[in-house]
Amino acid sequence: MGLKILVTGAKGMLGSDLVSILGSKKEYELIGATRGDFDITDHFQTTQFLRENNPNIVVHTASYTKVDDCEKNREMAFNVNAKGAENVASGCKNINAKLIYISTDYIFNGNKNEPYVEDDIPEPLNVYGDSKLGGEQAVQNILNAFMIIRTSWLFGKKGNNFVSTILKQADVVKPPYHLSIVDDQVGSPTYTIDLSYAIEKLIAHNATGVFNITNSGYCSWYQFAQKILEYSGKKGVKVVPIQSGQLNRPARRPSYSILDCSKFKKITNYTTRHWEEALKDYLQNTD
Ligand SMILES: NC(=O)c1ccc[n+]([C@@H]2O[C@H](COP(=O)([O-])OP(=O)(O)OC[C@H]3O[C@@H](n4cnc5c(N)ncnc54)[C@H](OP(=O)(O)O)[C@@H]3O)[C@@H](O)[C@H]2O)c1
Repeated sequence: MGLKILVTGAKGMLGSDLVSILGSKKEYELIGATRGDFDITDHFQTTQFLRENNPNIVVHTASYTKVDDCEKNREMAFNVNAKGAENVASGCKNINAKLIYISTDYIFNGNKNEPYVEDDIPEPLNVYGDSKLGGEQAVQNILNAFMIIRTSWLFGKKGNNFVSTILKQADVVKPPYHLSIVDDQVGSPTYTIDLSYAIEKLIAHNATGVFNITNSGYCSWYQFAQKILEYSGKKGVKVVPIQSGQLNRPARRPSYSILDCSKFKKITNYTTRHWEEALKDYLQNTD
């Protein structure tokens, strides 16, 4: 029989793509777990569900992902992102399952000017990043067999994301108004379908350890918005570059968070496509 894989956050943006992509492979038996199956902040529910289902691998995507809201809900952020990961890791330890924990570029402070490698020292600037780092540490403390996958700037069909937000705003903005988008944060947009295939490659290679995975290439949010408008045929909408300080958002974000994916490439012999190609694909396949 094939490997049994349980995905947490199965109705989320990444989780839903992971369930359909891993589920389409005959070598895997998939269980998509949602909050209705177990709440990851509940140790008993989490460990019991994992024991009853006894997967070989757990891909833990469930998370409190509202970066600005995490600033005012610090306790909830740590409860879901750090304690939740700890509960999932304990459940995996009980049944000897391998855990794949999804983490973020926001564990870094953005002070580097070349891509972050897996061994760089984390220093989160916001509560979300701090709580996700807490999750990473719990996984590393509890388990020997784990993967931590850091990714960035996700967009996918089953969730609100930067691309869907820009498209919605483009439909309502009328001249002389325009979209103002920050141009002083640089990162790599990543399509959840591409990330799911990349995760599958690491599973197939039975990899362990920390890995960066994003689409290739990088841009600022402003440049990202320009391409979204161009590729969706909304060239008439004007977009203006602004500085992060002008937005006054609750959570600080790293000004530079490009992740070096060469460790992933070396082990899988695979390179993710450029984010612009992934974006075109996403736009063609979205209603
Ligand atoms: N989005 C990004 O740009 C980004 C960037 C880097 C890394 N990541 C990481 O990538 C992963 C996937 O992100 P995403 O944007 O796909 O997430 P998402 O769409 O926000 O989905 C998160 C899922 O987690 C579930 N969840 C939240 N709290 C839970 C709880 N207490 N118990 C059980 N389930 C719970 C949510 O269920 P409900 O709908 O019921 O709340 C939701 O289905 C996360 O680990 C995130 O930290 C995301």
